[in-house]
Amino acid sequence: MPGRPGCGSFTTVAVRTIIEPFRIHSVEPLRLIDEDARRAAIRDAGFNLFGVRAEDVLIDLLTDSGTGAMSRDQWAAIQHGDESYAGSPSWFVFRDAVQELFPFAHVIPVHQGRAAEKILFTAIGGPGKVVPNNTHFDTTRANVEATGADAVDLPIAEALVPSSEHPFKGNMDVAALELLLEERGADAVPVVMVTVTNNSGGGQPVSLENLRAVRAVCDRFGVPLFLDACRFAENAWFIRQREPGQSERTVADIVREMASLADGMTMSAKKDPIANIGGWLAVDDDALAERCRNLLVLTEGFPTYGGLAGRDLEAIAQGLKEAVDHDYLRYRIRSTEYLGDALGEAGVPIVRPTGGHAVYLDARGLLPHIPPLEYPGQVLAVALYEAGGIRGCEIGTVMFGRRPDGTEEPAALDLVRLAIPRRTYTQSHIDYVAEVCADVAARREELRGLRITHEPAALRHFTARFEPV
Ligand SMILES: Cc1ncc(COP(=O)(O)O)c(C=O)c1O
Repeated sequence: MPGRPGCGSFTTVAVRTIIEPFRIHSVEPLRLIDEDARRAAIRDAGFNLFGVRAEDVLIDLLTDSGTGAMSRDQWAAIQHGDESYAGSPSWFVFRDAVQELFPFAHVIPVHQGRAAEKILFTAIGGPGKVVPNNTHFDTTRANVEATGADAVDLPIAEALVPSSEHPFKGNMDVAALELLLEERGADAVPVVMVTVTNNSGGGQPVSLENLRAVRAVCDRFGVPLFLDACRFAENAWFIRQREPGQSERTVADIVREMASLADGMTMSAKKDPIANIGGWLAVDDDALAERCRNLLVLTEGFPTYGGLAGRDLEAIAQGLKEAVDHDYLRYRIRSTEYLGDALGEAGVPIVRPTGGHAVYLDARGLLPHIPPLEYPGQVLAVALYEAGGIRGCEIGTVMFGRRPDGTEEPAALDLVRLAIPRRTYTQSHIDYVAEVCADVAARREELRGLRITHEPAALRHFTARFEPV
């Protein structure tokens, strides 16, 4: 949607404020329940934000997944949804929109990203296998490990230093990847995954230079490279802004180059394509595609709809067009940075530079008196809810500290992710969030650790219950 002649373009307005490139067409009410009610709600939820009723949350920054505001054109596209079981026109609209940006030979629709992961790793994982990634997202790790394979994170060293200003902290450590392939042998590595942007590592981008280097290593060992591409457009925008020689290219063009460096992808359409549900698996390899489609039919559905309704396929196809619009991406990345800047000014430690879809508070840095095994990230997330009805998400020892054998170790970082839903909150909501965070940070010494009283064997952060130490 470039600026129309005579309307002025968002790209040329000579003011510093980057305003929302949309106006609000339909609204949802919000409410702040009082402090006693918030304390009761979080206690009843076992001090786990996933257990709190959404109506009892004022600003919900738990995730940017499926929580974005769809556009007028997406809602209009939904009306075109054709619900034929096989060969629906909506399937072709979806497939063409995906292949316009990601020209892989086979596109396999699924109900969300983890279904793509489940199918892919069921097809290629298994005991004795190892899957390297810059940093596995929680569901990716769980789906790799569920097959008996090892999930290994290979971020660059700067990714583990919250204050480092490296422009591409999502990059994979290429030397470490080479070493792993030499030590374990290419036969043990069914795929190398690169997550763009690196969600668990701070929403940080991966450079084209790094992707090319990873590709070269994969070629040398004969191992396929897949993207976990949920935030491909935000990643491409960072490439355009930060990588030498990329500033004149369109985001769509950069995305196509990212895709050309890979052999396939897993995707959650709930992120950059701004849909409320959906995803896909895409691959070039015909034999792998067939195995994946056979698995798809078992649990998701026929290959022209996966787990989705025709109307979902239409919403995703339209969302993909909007996701690579430059005015939207400029606003999107700037509005996340705005929260990061406000927190930095208030002295709240965050992962620098600010990520694309979220601001990550450095809970371990803020709460040095709470040891990692008393979950400083969870403590901070609970405190933000109690103080202001804000719901964030621990990304740290609760999420990643439990090993498959049931033992526990501190995660590399203890963070609280404040994920910004796309096109959903206004600047005054974000100003309020910054105020509440600053207030909690000023009272940091009053905060005490938590211990787990109940946890499941995998993905414990969703349902674990806690009590104060
Ligand atoms: C990087 C990454 N990969 C995979 C997923 C899983 O996607 P979904 O939630 O649609 O299953 C997510 C979701 O947050 C993610 O951020």
